[in-house]
Amino acid sequence: MPNGLRYDGRVAIITGAGNGLGKSHALLLASRGAKIVVNDLGGSFKGEGKSSAAADAVVAEIKAKGGDAVANYDSVEDGAKIVSCALDNFKRVDIVVNNAGILRDTTFHKMTEADWELIYRVHVLGSFRVTHAAWPHMRDAKYGRVIFTASAAGIYGNFGQANYAMAKLGVVGMAQTLALEGKKANVHVNAIAPIAGSRMTETVLPPDLIAALSPEFVSPLVAYLCHDSCEETGGLFEVGGGFMGKLRWERAEGALFKLNGAITPEAVEKKWTAIAGFEKTTHPTDITSSMQPILGNLGTAKEKGGGNEFIDVGEALGYEFPPMDLSYDERDLALYALGVGAAQNPLDPKELQYVYELNGEGFHALPTFGVVPAIKLAFDMAKQGKQAPGLHYGFDRVLHGEQYTEIKRPLPPHAKLTHKAKIKDIFDKGKNALVVTAMTSYDEDGNELIYNELTTFVRGAGGWGGERGPQGEVNVPPDRAPDATITEKISESQALLYRLSGDWNPLHADPSFAKNFGFERPILHGLCTFGYSGRHVIKAFCNNDPRLFKSIKTRFSDSVFPGETLVTEMWKESETKIIFRTKVKERDKVVISGAAVELYKEIPKEIAKKAQQAQAATATTASAPSADANYEPVSADVFTAIEDHIARNPELASKIATTFLFKLTSPDSQWTVDLKNGKGSVAEGAGDKPDCTLELTDADFMAMTSGKADAQKLYFGGKLKITGNVMASQKLEFLKKVDSAAAMKAYAAKHGDGGASAGAAKATTSAAPPAPAASKEAKSPALFKALKERLEKNPSLAKETAQVIAFRVKSPDKRYVVDLTGSGSVREGDDAKAAATITIDEEDLLALVKDANVASGAKDLYMRGKLRIDGDARVAQKLGFLNNLA
Ligand code: NAI
Repeated sequence: MPNGLRYDGRVAIITGAGNGLGKSHALLLASRGAKIVVNDLGGSFKGEGKSSAAADAVVAEIKAKGGDAVANYDSVEDGAKIVSCALDNFKRVDIVVNNAGILRDTTFHKMTEADWELIYRVHVLGSFRVTHAAWPHMRDAKYGRVIFTASAAGIYGNFGQANYAMAKLGVVGMAQTLALEGKKANVHVNAIAPIAGSRMTETVLPPDLIAALSPEFVSPLVAYLCHDSCEETGGLFEVGGGFMGKLRWERAEGALFKLNGAITPEAVEKKWTAIAGFEKTTHPTDITSSMQPILGNLGTAKEKGGGNEFIDVGEALGYEFPPMDLSYDERDLALYALGVGAAQNPLDPKELQYVYELNGEGFHALPTFGVVPAIKLAFDMAKQGKQAPGLHYGFDRVLHGEQYTEIKRPLPPHAKLTHKAKIKDIFDKGKNALVVTAMTSYDEDGNELIYNELTTFVRGAGGWGGERGPQGEVNVPPDRAPDATITEKISESQALLYRLSGDWNPLHADPSFAKNFGFERPILHGLCTFGYSGRHVIKAFCNNDPRLFKSIKTRFSDSVFPGETLVTEMWKESETKIIFRTKVKERDKVVISGAAVELYKEIPKEIAKKAQQAQAATATTASAPSADANYEPVSADVFTAIEDHIARNPELASKIATTFLFKLTSPDSQWTVDLKNGKGSVAEGAGDKPDCTLELTDADFMAMTSGKADAQKLYFGGKLKITGNVMASQKLEFLKKVDSAAAMKAYAAKHGDGGASAGAAKATTSAAPPAPAASKEAKSPALFKALKERLEKNPSLAKETAQVIAFRVKSPDKRYVVDLTGSGSVREGDDAKAAATITIDEEDLLALVKDANVASGAKDLYMRGKLRIDGDARVAQKLGFLNNLA
């Protein structure tokens, strides 16, 4: 008697058990302790006649093998009698295997109703009646296992078997539902689609295949599904010929259609790939998961939707445009400032601050420039024919309705920004529609810098009965005379200047185009007036400091013509809020209404760049190396030296033929010294499967490699742990030959750097070794050494500048900080707090400091784009400390 899964005490009804599969199931379950009701009508495979012989033979076989079984000769259509037989003989019923079956194969056009009916009665009604009679007993006993026998013909269809296929898939549906109903009562229901050689298939399958498809290859799955321990329920399994596998439903991703409009056959055709393709799929397992997309669609239909030929709200709303990168620089800021009328008085430093990057008071962006990237992107997309899905109107229909721009902190003089835009709101204003696009601009470190909300007024695109959006007036001017008024005439060519900032709509430049739109001549951009007004508020309420400007909201109520005079009336609503209104003097027309500027109480702090933060951290934790300090090599330098040593001794790799992994602690780092492959190499990090791993503290490693500590002593003292090929560690003798000083020099020459700083950089980053630069000796260290000596001799020299200036010298690359806030100091490295950073090629710097008037030379280089100043541009005028340095 086999051990393992047993069925002792269980009573199993197996229908159609006189032959084929049923017989095999009966013999297997009986052999493992189950008492069997061997049911079989004993007719032909076509369902003709009856006999007790088949069932009796199987009972006899079971009994002969020591099992217990009783024969039953009823048709499954008398299911209740079969169940009574089980109860009468064995007092219970635990397992029902609905297996009895017949065939009435014929093509559909020849099929009689009797063919259809008989198949239905045996397979479907028979399975129902047996199971239905057994069901209450199993429920009461809180135990039951039921198998339905389906067929591949039902799952996939089979020529000439319409009746049979119907019945076979019918029982799958029945099984899945009973699985749900029986679950609580521990009645598990599964279906199988078997393939087996039997009298049913012997007429259609070749004899050798019949032999290979023994029913005994099917019964083990049935037995397992009927065991106490099996939790499976509701499953459908293909089984036979040594294969067993569960089936499930797979559904195409599918398409969703808006419910508030008609779904047309054309729309179906358009979405056919999604409907019928299986590139993206789901596997619903129950009715709830099957309904999910539908419920989602119903939900969205309620929340949003509607529209017309111009706007499909459901499709457009929430659409996120792909992120876009767009940079600006000082030139863009200056051009914009001129475009909105700044610097009419070119001698006024308060105006020059917007247009002249070397202005003594500093160079500042006009905050309303924050809208420019948004507009530029809108126009760039329009040029490329890109529009959010669901928005089907052209530029001829749109007017800029409202604008909100918020500056999170003062705009730097140049920036690389990433802009993310989405359709935030769509409102139905009756005849017209409003589409609100929100755009957030992030700096290179991912910090939010600008937020824009651009409200587009779409003529004639409303009226679908959708949401009307915010009602009523906002920012209504108080009923008193303005607290400040600024009047400014716009030049006749102002629109032509303004459009160069990216708003190329011909309405503002082309006289005939303007006429077509009913204007006597090109009109001024609403955003140009917006820029004028913003500038006026800064003048009147920020003491000309644009960095206090937080946000601006405007509604564009009427057009302005170049040459007209703008009057900005301003009311101080609170410490931080200015309500304003802009009019055209000549026509006494309000052109900007519902408008306000919000101010910061103090200038928002700049966020240190990530790179600077990292460098500042390096400076404090790893004591940044300075050009003339007694710089102590760190472990990274030693590995650089090893790298160099290996490069100069290429035979080492073949001699040593080992890869070493050094795991250093406090500070932690890992280095792989590969003396096995090629000419050998050194790399930070753990490579693939080192032969020998050495673990020790950074300090012990330094002591070991500088000859101050002995590797063996460290090992026996438990301070050096060696794993892998311990003997290979003996080969590390070569480390003693590494000449650190010579190697550092070689490294410096190779990378065009001082070696020391390269080592420090390596120690704090896990990046690949620095990219090789031009291989020339850096001359800037000598220059800054000379500067240091000069400042030591003349401490008063620093006072004239009194700022921290960072220098980024290029080719060869070096960085210095010249701190002139005290008596003056010079060091190598970076400083996040530097007032300004000067970027210049070494060659230009060396030439520049020969000059008796470095400030003027610097301006010259600046003009030619050969010198860059980040931060306070005024330092360019305070470079006297460098005069005649070389
Ligand atoms: P089979 O003909 O060898 O066995 C079927 C048994 O059911 C016969 O002994 C028959 O007397 C009995 N039976 C027929 N009508 C009955 C009724 N009204 N009441 C009681 N017993 C009745 O056939 P096989 O191949 O063992 O088939 C077993 C089951 O497996 C059937 O449901 C069949 O449709 C199904 N199946 C078989 C496949 C195969 O490759 N053999 C393929 C797919 C499904």
